[in-house]
Amino acid sequence: MAHFATALVLWNVPLAWAINVTIPLFAPYGSYLMSPTLVSFSIEQDRWPDWAGVSARNEFTYNALQNYQALTGRPPNIRVGADSADHTIWSPDVQIISDEVFPAPDSVTPYPEATTLTVGDEYYALSQFLPSGTRMIWGVNLGSDNVTNAVNMAKAIVGAFNTPEVQNAGISLLRLEVGNEPDLYKNPTHMLRPKGWPVQDYVADWESVAGPVVEAVGISSNTGPVTLQGASFSGQGYTPREIFALGILGSQAGQTISTISQHRYSANFCNGGKLGLISFMSKTSVRGNISMFEADIAATQAQGLEYILGETNSVACHGAPGVSNTAGMALWVIDYTLQAATKGISEAYFHQGIGYKYNFIQPITLNFSTIDGSPLDPPELPHIQPIYYGGLVVNTFIGGTGTAEIIELTVDDDNVSGYAAYEGGLLVRAVFVNLRPWVQDSTGSRPSVHLDLQVMLGLGEDDSSELDVGLFLGQTASARRLVIQHADDVANLTWAGQSWENVDIAPTGELELETISLAAGVDLRATEAILIML
Ligand SMILES: *[C@@H]1O[C@H](CO)[C@@H](O)[C@H](O)[C@H]1NC(C)=O
Ligand SMILES: *[C@@H]1O[C@H](CO)[C@@H](O)[C@H](O)[C@H]1NC(C)=O
Ligand SMILES: *[C@@H]1O[C@H](CO)[C@@H](O)[C@H](O)[C@H]1NC(C)=O
Ligand SMILES: *[C@@H]1O[C@H](CO)[C@@H](O)[C@H](O)[C@H]1NC(C)=O
Ligand SMILES: *[C@@H]1O[C@H](CO)[C@@H](O)[C@H](O)[C@H]1NC(C)=O
Ligand SMILES: *[C@@H]1O[C@H](CO)[C@@H](O)[C@H](O)[C@H]1NC(C)=O
Repeated sequence: MAHFATALVLWNVPLAWAINVTIPLFAPYGSYLMSPTLVSFSIEQDRWPDWAGVSARNEFTYNALQNYQALTGRPPNIRVGADSADHTIWSPDVQIISDEVFPAPDSVTPYPEATTLTVGDEYYALSQFLPSGTRMIWGVNLGSDNVTNAVNMAKAIVGAFNTPEVQNAGISLLRLEVGNEPDLYKNPTHMLRPKGWPVQDYVADWESVAGPVVEAVGISSNTGPVTLQGASFSGQGYTPREIFALGILGSQAGQTISTISQHRYSANFCNGGKLGLISFMSKTSVRGNISMFEADIAATQAQGLEYILGETNSVACHGAPGVSNTAGMALWVIDYTLQAATKGISEAYFHQGIGYKYNFIQPITLNFSTIDGSPLDPPELPHIQPIYYGGLVVNTFIGGTGTAEIIELTVDDDNVSGYAAYEGGLLVRAVFVNLRPWVQDSTGSRPSVHLDLQVMLGLGEDDSSELDVGLFLGQTASARRLVIQHADDVANLTWAGQSWENVDIAPTGELELETISLAAGVDLRATEAILIML
């Protein structure tokens, strides 16, 4: 194997820094199964008809989701709800949607969320336009504290999934979620509950609304087919540990909770400001934003329940310009999602709206800039944003067997992270992400690291257990690279040589599969990712 001499590295400040990475050949104890829907989506429900399509499916949404399905065998789960679910009224007199009120847009929030909307049964039946096999989570209004309305909504949702249109389309209802980010209800910006509303009152309130909901639609256990999703807290305002201690799981509705959801954004742009992309291209930041949930994950798993990030993305309040919409996010999302998977988070639902800066998918024509609200002439056609490529990488890493397990690899570099995937207990893939920013203003030569890969039989530090990967796994492996010109670009990425930035979201250009010699290792430039298939 080729190794750079350490002295040479130190004294000559070379462009390629050599790092040894040991990869266990067999899945170590503590590896987690990766869900084929690890990358899932949460959709703000005020503009759900734009996403789904009204008289026919939205082809752009459909294709974007199908591309992900093609890689893991399952379309992403779709949660529809979020803040606007807590402002939704169901009416027997409305067909799809009416009386939608939006605040005035401004440069910080060019695409604000509806403050109120009324929906009818067919609104939910638009679910039929998603790819066959899609499983959904729908939000029920707790914010209004109106049991009649909550029950009406739940009945309309369950009713829609019992229609022939939705059933024949192969779309199923997985969970209902009663209330979105209730730990924020007491805030001046929400004013849905009194100032200082304590978690004890939340639990009692939730039980008083969710109880009649499960009763009305016949949900009686947490084993399905339809169950409840609990918590959905915005931050650490209330925690799953607290509500477990308050006995929520013993209540009629609590007994039907199969899944605990928490939300996470790494920063917020609610009042604008200037956020740096660089702080996101950081292994330390990514780990900090996931490890904060460790105690709640452990408490949830101790109850035998599933744990998800039911709403997440880079920056709260729809993303920050120069951060959420950039190519750097494609790398951030790989590290963030896989880091979550190694901590027992089974799915991450990336929040999306119409015209939000952090979207993977902009599914309809936009007439105003997502960045500052200025008019777009010509309008911008439906398109993907750079972060979409990160999902392609993650889903390729997960693969289509439904059996892949993940571990994080120790990579002794501040900017490079690595993960390995195992099927049937045997190493099948590895992915490396170099988060070191290479931006439009960067000068000089683009730095890169050299990764020397050493496959090990066991976990010991003993060198004798290292195997020559060339002998054990063949001399070569095939690799796909995610190539980014600059972290602050908003387009022009390629994945294995191909661009997906077109109206059909179909790969264009020659597929480039690199053949790498395992003995020689690989170079990985700043702001780049590579997936190695063994
Ligand atoms: C990498 O491992 C080899 C032996 O396997 C060793 O000689 C070399 O010093 C290591 N390099 C670094 C940077 O640790
Ligand atoms: C609760 O919802 C029902 C059904 O939408 C409505 O008729 C009623 O007026 C609501 N109650 C309050 C207090 O808003
Ligand atoms: C979360 O990520 C942001 C942006 O990268 C960073 O500024 C912040 O410090 C991180 N939070 C934690 C708790 O690590
Ligand atoms: C932009 O304008 C077109 C044509 O009027 C319309 O179909 C589309 O919905 C508009 N986009 C948004 C996000 O409102
Ligand atoms: C990691 O990236 C930072 C810039 O974000 C850079 O200053 C640092 O030298 C890099 N570390 C290594 C080991 O390359
Ligand atoms: C994409 O790359 C082309 C050719 O290098 C360049 O002209 C164009 O400005 C780039 N677009 C963006 C959005 O970065």
